[in-house]
Amino acid sequence: MSVVDILDNELRKTQTYKPKERKCIYPLDLNENLVIPKELLQEIIIEAAKEIDPRTYPAKERREAEEALARVHNVDPEQIVLFNGADDAIDTLLNLASQANPGKATVLALKPSFTIYRTRTLAKGLNYIESKIDRDTLKPDLRDLTEKASMSELIFFDIPNNPTGTIPLDRVEIEEIIEKARGIVAIDEVYAQYIAEGWESIDLVKKYDNAATIRSFSKSYGLAGMRIGYIVSSGRLASILKRSTLPFHMNKLALRLIVKVLERNDIFKKYIDEVIDLRDYMYRKLTEINPLKVYRSYTNFLLLDAGKHHSEILKKAHENGYCIREFRGVFDEDDKYIRITVPPSRETVDGLIDVVKQAVG
Ligand SMILES: Cc1ncc(COP(=O)(O)O)c(C=O)c1O
Repeated sequence: MSVVDILDNELRKTQTYKPKERKCIYPLDLNENLVIPKELLQEIIIEAAKEIDPRTYPAKERREAEEALARVHNVDPEQIVLFNGADDAIDTLLNLASQANPGKATVLALKPSFTIYRTRTLAKGLNYIESKIDRDTLKPDLRDLTEKASMSELIFFDIPNNPTGTIPLDRVEIEEIIEKARGIVAIDEVYAQYIAEGWESIDLVKKYDNAATIRSFSKSYGLAGMRIGYIVSSGRLASILKRSTLPFHMNKLALRLIVKVLERNDIFKKYIDEVIDLRDYMYRKLTEINPLKVYRSYTNFLLLDAGKHHSEILKKAHENGYCIREFRGVFDEDDKYIRITVPPSRETVDGLIDVVKQAVG
């Protein structure tokens, strides 16, 4: 068999995420932030573009971006590692797990979790194990989790969780797992800015060598298309991560944008608060519709259990131009849920609510 045949066979076994071109008026399926005006972001991108020389490699821009993020988190710039989105950070952590135990490494995540953890783990030929979140308590069984954590090279916790939008573990529970784990514990906080009460795991990475916090500019800063993510970790783990990434893997424009966006933090904070208001408005409106069950969310999306109205809601939403996302097997094999990103305005929320009401009858 040729190497191409071997690879083709091997990768056929793994599901990869294939981005689809969406045909909808209201794209509410990928948790993008459409509240931030496109024109504001374009203006910042143009300013950033004028400040860079694209002919030269991005060394200074990388250092400046690391310094700006270090100031935000009150850490040393050496503790910041930049990536092309949180996905790239996740993938790099998986490469490290694989290096720690070639071909045999085990990766643990909660069930449900962000699907990329599973698909990328399997694509790399590693073992993927899960610890279930209970449908009613929305918590995992801590004993099961701790036991599985002790045999894993890498553990992902998305806090808040995607797709539930909830916080399955508190900081004390996470800290206990970090203490007992021999592997790296990655706390994926791409939605952290939507936890109105504030949430920070950064002090954990200051304390533990094996803890890493993943952040992104996709969800709160409306820059999913620019692919900006980063990890904050101990200096030791950050140095390992830096050694395992290419020296110039981030482009200059994205690096410069990090600095420009952080300079305008107050404006972005205003839009984050607006998303939180819209989310809570949509939550109230959906919970008024009997018999829908809506999960309280700490993100920019809501998870909905529509029971027997599931298919009709999806159908009607689709017919009316709303892209919303179906999830199957969230807690158990046969269950069905719908995840809806917070729309950009109250009018869009109201329009969607009308469609849902029609579907429920
Ligand atoms: C929990 C979680 N982590 C990471 C990501 C990926 O973020 P990024 O756009 O920065 O790659 C997502 C995107 O939906 C997510 O939900």
